[in-house]
This record gives sequence, C-alpha cells and structure tokens, in this order.
Amino acid sequence: MTTLTGKTVLLTDASRGLGLHIAHALAKEQATVVCVSRFPSGLEPTCQTINAAGGRAIPIPFDITNVAQLSSLIQQVHAIVGHVDILINNAGIEINSAFADYSLSEIQSVFKTNLLAAMELTRLLLPNMMERGSGRIVNIASLAGKKGVAFNSIYSASKAGLIMWADAVRQELAGRDVNISVVCPGYISETGMTIDPCVSAPKLAGMSTPKGVANAVIRAIKGKHTQIIVNHNPLMEGLMKLMLAMGQIAPTAVDTLYR
Ligand SMILES: NC(=O)c1ccc[n+]([C@@H]2O[C@H](COP(=O)([O-])OP(=O)(O)OC[C@H]3O[C@@H](n4cnc5c(N)ncnc54)[C@H](OP(=O)(O)O)[C@@H]3O)[C@@H](O)[C@H]2O)c1
Repeated sequence: MTTLTGKTVLLTDASRGLGLHIAHALAKEQATVVCVSRFPSGLEPTCQTINAAGGRAIPIPFDITNVAQLSSLIQQVHAIVGHVDILINNAGIEINSAFADYSLSEIQSVFKTNLLAAMELTRLLLPNMMERGSGRIVNIASLAGKKGVAFNSIYSASKAGLIMWADAVRQELAGRDVNISVVCPGYISETGMTIDPCVSAPKLAGMSTPKGVANAVIRAIKGKHTQIIVNHNPLMEGLMKLMLAMGQIAPTAVDTLYR
C-alpha cells in the first residue's frame, strides 16, 4: 500500500492521547478516518483535526468493551463507507495494582479493551480484506508486552497477547497483500495514559513521542512491517532491543538489569 489517499481507516480510541496524533497523521495522508471512542464530545475535536488536515472524519461513539456488539459497529461502518482498508487497534487501558489486588472485573475490562476487541474487530474485517486481496491491520501494543511491568501485570499480559496473536495471524496471511503488524511504544510523557509531569519514565524502559508513534503507524501500513519498536533515542532503542534479545537467553540476568 503506497498511498493512503482515499483509503478508509477504522481507528479505535480516537478521542485523545495517541489516537489524536495517529488521526492527524492519517488525515495528512488524505485518508477517510472512522473514529471510534465512547463519547461524541470526545470525538468532536479529533474530527475537526482530521478535516482541517485534509482528511475526512466519521465519528462513531461506541464502547468497544461490548465485544459481542462489535458486529453491529462494523455493519454501521460498512453502511457509511462501504469497506475498511485499514484497521488500527489503538484501544488500550491500564489499571495499576499489585496482581493479587486486582478484581476479576478489572482483569476482564483490560483484556476486553486491549485484546478481545482487537481480535473481534479483526475477525469481522479480515474476510473482506482477504476477498479484496488488500488490507492492513495495525495493533498498538507496548514495550510492556515485550517485558513484564510490575504492578501492571494485566496490561503487560494483554499487550504480550496482542503481539503473539498478531504474530500467529501474520503467518496465516503469508503471501497475501493483507498484513497485520504491531507498533510497540515505550513510555510517552507528553500525552496519553502515562502522562505525569512529576515523574520521569525509567530510562531503559524506552521513551517515545506521540509523533514518533503516529509516524510508525504510517510506516507499518505502507511498508507492511511486522513490528516497530518506537523510541525517540536510537541508542536507547538499540539497548532496549539488545536487552529484549538477551532476555531470551539469560532471563534472570536481564530481570536484575531491568529492575
Ligand atoms: N501513553 C503511553 O505511554 C503508551 C505507551 C505504550 C503504549 N500505549 C498504547 O497506546 C494506545 C493509546 O494509548 P493512550 O495513551 O493514547 O490512551 P489514552 O490517552 O488513555 O486514551 C484512551 C482512549 O481510549 C478511549 N477509550 C477508552 N475506553 C474505551 C472503550 N471502552 N471503548 C471505546 N473507546 C475507549 C478513550 O476515549 P473515551 O474516553 O472518549 O471513550 C480515549 O480515546 C493504547 O493501546 C496504549 O496501551 C500507550
């Protein structure tokens, strides 16, 4: 896919944070962006950004934790735009807690938002992409899915699941022009769920910028990438990748280093 002009993108979690930056990058490519998040008021500024930047925005308020109802969302999308060329599973929430203190409903809500909704949207859209012989699915995962994060174990598990599920589906899609990829940002300080002006992210955990993530999404779509780790510092990115690779060989040593 060399151009996004005129392509239709379904973007989840579109009302703020990274979603806003990804929407802006897609609009600059003159894509039509179907924006999904829960509240119409949240979608309004995103749609204004998209329309002002040269794209076309279609807001659809929807709670994606209603996984069983996602087929009705897709019916609605198909009725408006015909088909979806690109799905961006940007949805993600985190709940920080010691593992034993999570409630079952907290575990379920993180898994529904971060993993089940992505799987179900893909399951619903993939047959049409395969029939047309063209499509892209980009999942916004996290470095927390590559190395476990203390007091965020459910989030880490959901993102690791997202990465490995996408890896498996990609094997099924080999040889087609339908691709599924993952983008793994590190901590982002300017916007989004980890924003905190008082606390800096741990250096080795990897820092990303929202623009870096949005650019990575465009690269993943155009370049049919498998996985992009986003880090604003090339040296830290190299060290992070080395640490992740070493973790496969010497997990105990890397645990000590990471802590
Ligand atoms: N920020 C980071 O440091 C960071 C690092 C690595 C990876 N990531 C990943 O990047 C993605 C975006 O994160 P972010 O930081 O931009 O998040 P964010 O700022 O917390 O934004 C969350 C977005 O999700 C929407 N949302 C939440 N629950 C929803 C639901 N049930 N149904 C529909 N929409 C829902 C929210 O809109 P409404 O409230 O209007 O519904 C909002 O648009 C996530 O997958 C996250 O895991 C983030």
